[in-house]
Amino acid sequence: MQSYEKLLLQNKAWAETIKADNPEYFEKLAQLQTPEFLWIGCSDSRVPADRITGTHPGEIFVHRNVANLVVNTDVNLLAVLDFSVTVLKVKHVIVCGHYGCGGIKAAATKHDHKPVLNMWLRNIKDVYRLHREELDAIKNDEQRIDRLVELNVQEQVMNLAKTTIIQKAWKKEQRPHLHGWVYGLKDGLIKPVFEMKAGTKFDPLYEYEV
Ligand code: CO
Repeated sequence: MQSYEKLLLQNKAWAETIKADNPEYFEKLAQLQTPEFLWIGCSDSRVPADRITGTHPGEIFVHRNVANLVVNTDVNLLAVLDFSVTVLKVKHVIVCGHYGCGGIKAAATKHDHKPVLNMWLRNIKDVYRLHREELDAIKNDEQRIDRLVELNVQEQVMNLAKTTIIQKAWKKEQRPHLHGWVYGLKDGLIKPVFEMKAGTKFDPLYEYEV
């Protein structure tokens, strides 16, 4: 059997288990999704949003990319953000990074990852530059990268707050709250590291008359 065929078999078994427990499960879910959360996480296979939060289909709207970045020219991310905030009306947006993130580690080196990855990882180098003083003072390499993971999450949450999508929702409906979390690969635990409640004031340079 090919490795991918195992996935299809497991899918069948999974669907049957759910249906045995609740025969109308899929029919009900197919009609409507009302997730309360948007999750912006890393693509890393070890950080599955629903598994680590004990949530089920229908509960979390998910966007994942390398190193959980919120880039203001990323049409994919912005479409997910706009749809989930404006249409689905999620109450919370969670940016979840993880310790041991390959993307973060790669961005902290001088290695040439070739044009496309360099372009993406450049955003993380900018986070490093913004917090250079704090980061350079950490002598232990692993601890420095761990802190960069946390600061990256913080900056990505702030990037969300810089969008008119979030600013409009904050003004009209006092939601969503923005959360920055970091997941630990070594213990399976999520640590909240940053938060911006709806309406939080920050640098007026990024505020729009929405
Ligand atoms: Co990662």
